[in-house]
Amino acid sequence: TKLAILISGRGSNMQALIEACAQPGFPAEIALVVSNRPDAGGLDRAKAAGLPTAVVDHAGYETREAFEAVLTDLIEAAGAQLVCLAGFMRLLTADFVNHWRDRLINIHPSLLPAFPGLHTHERAIEAGVKLHGCTVHFVRAEMDNGPIIGQAAVPVLPGDTPDTLGARVLAAEHQLYPACVKLVASGKARVRGDVVKTDAKVD
Ligand code: GRF
Repeated sequence: TKLAILISGRGSNMQALIEACAQPGFPAEIALVVSNRPDAGGLDRAKAAGLPTAVVDHAGYETREAFEAVLTDLIEAAGAQLVCLAGFMRLLTADFVNHWRDRLINIHPSLLPAFPGLHTHERAIEAGVKLHGCTVHFVRAEMDNGPIIGQAAVPVLPGDTPDTLGARVLAAEHQLYPACVKLVASGKARVRGDVVKTDAKVD
C-alpha cells in the first residue's frame, strides 16, 4: 500500500511511520509527504529519509476547496492509496473527506470520543481522568470523529503537567500509528457501518 503523509509540524509521527515502513515485510511504503506549512520541521526529516516532499501552503489559496484540489492532485499523482494525517492542522472539507472515505486516517492525542479538538492533555488533567491516550481513526467530516482503528492508553499520574502527560501520550502515538497503518494496509481492519472490524488473527 502506498501512503501519502500530511503534516504541519515537527513530524514525529511521520518519522515513526518512516521507520516502520523501512522494516522488512511492512505492508506499506511512503510515496509522498506533504506539508501545508513551508517551515514544518518534518519536511527536513522526510528529505533526510530520501522521500518525495511537497509544500502546499494554504495561505496561497483563496478557498479550502482550491487548496484541497491541489492536495488531491498531488496525492493521486503519487499513486497513494492511503492518506495519513500526522499532525496536520487544517480542517478538511466534507468533500475532501468523502473523496478519501475509508482511505484517510488520523491520529488524535486523546481516547476518543473524549476530548476532540485542541489542548487535549490540559483538558484531560482538568477533567481528572486517570487514563488518557491516543486514537487512530478513519476520518469523517465531523472533526476528530470516525471509525476507530486502534487506541493506546497511558496513565495520568499525580503531578502531571500537560507537557509530561503529552510526552507519555506521544510515545504511545509512535507505537500506535504504525500498528494501525499495518492493520489497514494489510486489509485486516475494515470499516463496517460506523465501526472498524479487525480480523481476529492479528500478528
Ligand atoms: C501529535 O500529538 C498528534 O496526535 C497531534 O499533533 C501532534 C503532532 O506531532 N494531532 P508530530 O508532528 O507527529 O510530532
